[in-house]
Amino acid sequence: MYEAGFAEIYDEVHRHRGKDYAAEAAYLAQLVRARHPSADSVLDVASGTGGHLRHLRERFTTAEGLEMSPEMLAIARERLPGLRLHQGDMRAFRLGRRYDAITLMFSSIGYVLDQADLERTLRCLAEHLHLGGVLIIEPWVFPDTFLPGYVAADLVRHDDRSIARISHSVRDGDAVVMTVHYLDADSGGVKHLTDVHRLALFTREQYEDAFAKAGCPAEFVTSAQFSRGLFVGVRTPPA
Ligand SMILES: C[S@@+](CC[C@H](N)C(=O)[O-])C[C@H]1O[C@@H](n2cnc3c(N)ncnc32)[C@H](O)[C@@H]1O
Repeated sequence: MYEAGFAEIYDEVHRHRGKDYAAEAAYLAQLVRARHPSADSVLDVASGTGGHLRHLRERFTTAEGLEMSPEMLAIARERLPGLRLHQGDMRAFRLGRRYDAITLMFSSIGYVLDQADLERTLRCLAEHLHLGGVLIIEPWVFPDTFLPGYVAADLVRHDDRSIARISHSVRDGDAVVMTVHYLDADSGGVKHLTDVHRLALFTREQYEDAFAKAGCPAEFVTSAQFSRGLFVGVRTPPA
C-alpha cells in the first residue's frame, strides 16, 4: 500500500481528479481558528505526499507531518524541504510535544483495523493536542453510504505518460476492500500495478463515540468541498 510506483502516481491521479489542496487547507484553517483563534501549530497525520501541508504551512507558524509510508514521505520531503516530517503509525506515536490543531484527511482514518483501533488512534491524537486544541478528521464512507461494487475510473495523460486507474470496492464484514489497478504507460512500455486497500467502516455514532472517549467531543460538519463531511472535535479538560 502506497509503496514505490504507487506513491509516484498518487499526485498525478488526484491532480487530474481536481483535488484542490489549497482550498481544502484554507477551509481547515478557518475551522480551526473559529474554535481556537490563536492556533499557531498544526500536525497533519497520514500526511501522504504533503498536499495539505504545503498550504497549511502558509497559515500556521509550525506545520509538521506524520506518515507511515517511507515512499510517500520521501516525496513529501523532496517537495517540502525544511518542514518536519515524522515517520510513524497514527495508531501509536509519541512526538514529545503538543499542537493547537491536528488534521487527518482524505479518509486515512479508514486504515485502522476496528473500533478498538479507532479509539486507540483518537486517544493517541488527543494526547498530542493542547487543551482547547482542534482535531479534524475526514471520515471514510459510512456503512449506509457505501455503494457495494463501486467502480471508479480515471485516465491521466501527462507529456508522453498515460496512467489509467480503475478501482473496484466490495464489502467484507465491517470493512471495504478496494482493489486498485493501474496501467502506467510511456514510450518504454506499459506496467500493470495492483494495490489492495482495506478500509474499516464506522457509523457516524461510532466516530462521535470515539472522539468523546478521547476527550474531544466532536460535531459533524458538512460542506460542498468534503462530500464525506468532517468531524471537528475540541480537546476539553478531563472531568
Ligand atoms: C488517501 S492517502 C491520504 C494522504 C494525504 N492525507 C492526502 O490527503 O493526500 C492515505 C495515507 O495514509 C497513510 N497511512 C495509512 N495507514 C497509516 C498509519 N497507520 N499511520 C500513518 N499513516 C498511514 C498512507 O501511507 C497514505 O499516505
